[in-house]
Amino acid sequence: MRIDVLTLFPEMFHGVLGSSTLKRASQGSERRPAPVSYHLTNIRDYTTDKHGKVDDRPFGGGPGMVMQCQPIWDAVMAVERLDQRPAIRILMTPQGCKLGQPLVEELATRPRLLIIAGHYEGVDERVIEKLDPILRLSIGDYVLSGGELPAMVLIDAVVRLIPGVLGHEESCQHESFSPTRGRLLDCPHYTRPRTWQGVDVPPVLLSGDHAAIEAWRSEQAVRLTARFRPDLLRDHPTQGAP
Ligand code: ADE
Repeated sequence: MRIDVLTLFPEMFHGVLGSSTLKRASQGSERRPAPVSYHLTNIRDYTTDKHGKVDDRPFGGGPGMVMQCQPIWDAVMAVERLDQRPAIRILMTPQGCKLGQPLVEELATRPRLLIIAGHYEGVDERVIEKLDPILRLSIGDYVLSGGELPAMVLIDAVVRLIPGVLGHEESCQHESFSPTRGRLLDCPHYTRPRTWQGVDVPPVLLSGDHAAIEAWRSEQAVRLTARFRPDLLRDHPTQGAP
């Protein structure tokens, strides 16, 4: 997969894309090509304004600045030409649909993502309309100071699902929101020591009975979900079934 990020702050991405799983995913070996490549583009490099301006005050008044159409449009057109693979265009914005694991799974199957990180008060609506089809994506109902952190969240969520990125040890098979957990929260986890501050690990986990362990984990996943995210149980497909 190729991931292009268009941003005014490419330096914000270096630490995140250059560490841990996201770094490993972009490194190939003799045994396999790199599952993903990252390409950062500074939108400011595409402005035709001689002072490097990329934003202006909002028509109609109000606080903050709005990112202008021209630099974003020219950057997207130039970057799309760099590779023949068709890109899913994505704008990170609080005014979008909310990211969830089913969409993350879908995006992880695509050959190319082009992510625009908006900044300041927002992006001129006309360029968003002109870039249609484009997915307006929010990572939650709160406002951050720009789309960069949301873009990193999206990249992390997607890249770890690309086959070959996670090792067996850290597999994404049974985890919160995964289909194998019924899109519920994951079960609780325990490791050594067996007793810590007088609290024992649930004995079933030491039993070696894999069927019993899996049944216990499923039950615990439902308990945790009922406690912390009852909304997930209400939306559950088995809810209301006889
Ligand atoms: N930009 C600012 N806040 C955001 C959010 N919650 N999701 C996506 N992009 C954003």
